[in-house]
Amino acid sequence: MIGRFHCQAVEAIEDAALVGVCDVVNDRAHSLAREFEATEGHFTTVEEMARADGLDVVVVGVPSGLHHVAALAAIDAGKHVVVEKPIDITLERADRMIEAARDAGVLLSVISQKRFEPATRHLKEAVDSGKFGRIAFADVYVKWWRTPEYYSQGGWKGTKDMDGGGALINQSVHQIDLLRWIMGPVRTLFGRADARVHDIEAEDTAAAVLEFESGAMGVIQGSTASYPGHPATLSITGERGSARIEDGTLTEWSFAGEEHLEADVLRRFAGVSGSGGGDPASINARGHELQFRDVIEALRTGRPPLTDGHEGRKALELILAIYESSETGLPVRLTGR
Ligand SMILES: NC(=O)c1ccc[n+]([C@@H]2O[C@H](COP(=O)([O-])OP(=O)(O)OC[C@H]3O[C@@H](n4cnc5c(N)ncnc54)[C@H](O)[C@@H]3O)[C@@H](O)[C@H]2O)c1
Repeated sequence: MIGRFHCQAVEAIEDAALVGVCDVVNDRAHSLAREFEATEGHFTTVEEMARADGLDVVVVGVPSGLHHVAALAAIDAGKHVVVEKPIDITLERADRMIEAARDAGVLLSVISQKRFEPATRHLKEAVDSGKFGRIAFADVYVKWWRTPEYYSQGGWKGTKDMDGGGALINQSVHQIDLLRWIMGPVRTLFGRADARVHDIEAEDTAAAVLEFESGAMGVIQGSTASYPGHPATLSITGERGSARIEDGTLTEWSFAGEEHLEADVLRRFAGVSGSGGGDPASINARGHELQFRDVIEALRTGRPPLTDGHEGRKALELILAIYESSETGLPVRLTGR
């Protein structure tokens, strides 16, 4: 599914080229390589593809529980790596990937394309500059819908060993990454996760209450059981103002004394990378393109990419803490972990 968007994103970048496509299923690799005119064709192992002429960066879009396998193979071959979200499904594997990239002197970036939405950047700058005053709430709502076929056909989605969980780690991870990035560390959380609708071993419905180290509170709702699927929403409210982003579009920007600016600000920040609320294929490649451009710039200048391995690990840590809380029935304290 996501491999096609990766190819489209590379195609949109004037100084990038698609060298090869790899998939264990030969026909899938072959058809994508042919459609997007990969210069060195198709492959069935990462090791083989890594030897192709002109290859600088390997983009990993295999099932989440195999991210470390493909990423480590690419790093071993001395290639830079962009890996899909989540970084992998355990912190131990995330650490191995981060350490291997560091030791090999290659770049590791974890996809979080919503960070590149203009509205998200604008909101992050406002929080960093203290525009909200003291923040009361920072919440994300990802009430999405996936069909039963989505889970039965893919084979690995919603499984604990390949997806690492369900609605939180696969779908809500984008918004959870934004929340953690914009609001900083979480001190404690309490969470519940359950399969309410789908016949899967992981959760299709989850909720958590958070307390950030700043003292702000927050709520996470993540679901693939909420027909027909609603816009993914990030909402921040504080003593001097409130803002809300829905599917990348700024839909509220209310600050004391600046009411006359709201309409103009809202007009400037429309979403660029699609939704995914009801249909996983309803996104577009623009967010990936912006992230790939960030990676290219990072390689050229030597600065870290916006979402490196450490950043990808933070979102995973938060999600795994919600699972832990749900399993034990107890709050989880994150400080110092
Ligand atoms: N950023 C986003 O918006 C977004 C959207 C969808 C999926 N994803 C992520 O992308 C990843 C893939 O998801 P998908 O929906 O495309 O899955 P998918 O099942 O459609 O595709 C995965 C592909 O990997 C291939 N594969 C499996 N093992 C392999 C191996 N060892 N080497 C090479 N190929 C292998 C499979 O044959 C399959 O074609 C997941 O980590 C998912 O979380 C990200």
